[in-house]
Amino acid sequence: MVMTYWQPNYARRAGRMKASEIRELLKLLDRPGIISFAGGIPDPKLFPEAEAAQAYVEALSGSNGATSALQYSVSEGYAPLRRWIANHMATRGVHAEADNIVITSGSQQALDFLGKLLLTPGDTALLTTPTYLGALQAFSAYEPNYDTISSGPTNRSAVTYAEAAAHAATGARVAFAYVVPDFANPTGETLSEDERSGLLDLAYDLDVPLLEDSAYSALRFEGNDQPTLQALDCRRSGSLDQSRVIYLGTFSKTVAPGLRIGWICASRAIVNHLVLLKQASDLNASGVNQIVMHRLVDGGRYEARVATARGHYRQKRDAMLRALSTYMPSAVSWTVPQGGFFVWLKVPEAVSSAELLKRAIDEANVAFVPGQAFHHDGAGSNTLRLSYSLPAESDIDIGIKRLAGLLSA
Ligand SMILES: Cc1ncc(COP(=O)(O)O)c(C=O)c1O
Repeated sequence: MVMTYWQPNYARRAGRMKASEIRELLKLLDRPGIISFAGGIPDPKLFPEAEAAQAYVEALSGSNGATSALQYSVSEGYAPLRRWIANHMATRGVHAEADNIVITSGSQQALDFLGKLLLTPGDTALLTTPTYLGALQAFSAYEPNYDTISSGPTNRSAVTYAEAAAHAATGARVAFAYVVPDFANPTGETLSEDERSGLLDLAYDLDVPLLEDSAYSALRFEGNDQPTLQALDCRRSGSLDQSRVIYLGTFSKTVAPGLRIGWICASRAIVNHLVLLKQASDLNASGVNQIVMHRLVDGGRYEARVATARGHYRQKRDAMLRALSTYMPSAVSWTVPQGGFFVWLKVPEAVSSAELLKRAIDEANVAFVPGQAFHHDGAGSNTLRLSYSLPAESDIDIGIKRLAGLLSA
């Protein structure tokens, strides 16, 4: 009733913001005893509780402490943290200055800002299918059409992408391509260097920005680090200021999501625009949280946290892969991630993973996210995402055994 009453007042873009059936199901996750493979949620066991408490005390004490920590601050972000991130980007192969960095309230806000900056209604955003659900939610508010890029050689030519965009709506253009190149949400897959170069080629041919979402890239368990798309493009274009890659970073998966600190690293021209968006949106990311985050990562602390997190999540990944191979029927296949939080399952075509979720919650007290949620085109009904980041290893074994039991039946 309330919805109907207000409907005429909503802007057109609100029509794209719908509660999904899956979200409704995921509300059931509060049930006692449920084993949840649903959220991409960091394990609170890794949260730096004592250090954060100490860092807040320090940030708020001293002659100038509370006065600046609790005050409004500059929209681009806390200077020492921006300098730390610029130095950190060098470890990712990118020579950045603090001026190339803007601090955001998590990388989710960065996705919203980039949608706001780059999408005119009717434009085409290129995405892998499946892709991060939160990116679809952020971009959809700016009313794009979506088209699919692949990481492999199956991409269409730049001309056909441009033609498809022009057909979708009068005057429409391709606005950008968005990818999660390392341990992707939702598939756990990582792009090879060749695949990265191929994506850059396409972005050049289309003359569009390439959005590189690196949320999980620090959490590699094995294998060689791949170069960032931004590093590859700095080599190709000559410098970060000439690069078409916009890099989204976050401390959510390595330190703690509750402080809501992420960043964008990009050419100064883009950063200057983003600072205006930040100002208009929320003036600045929490000052005290930026100071605390800087204390939590500075002086080698970030690297130590990442090393611990890698070992921790690796064990959970191993527990999930072990359980999958032990219990799953042969018709089910899955990805083997080299890092991050996710395994992606394919079940037989005849199985609807949304239906399976209902049964999993009701009959087995287990939850996951049906794969369709990550598809802009409604495909993927026989896929699902399992996250191993939160449950204990023993629960991973029990939960996968129960899920396999449902699938075998
Ligand atoms: C691929 C990806 N990007 C961005 C985010 C947003 O993270 P945050 O806003 O906490 O930085 C997430 C969170 O799950 C994610 O999986």
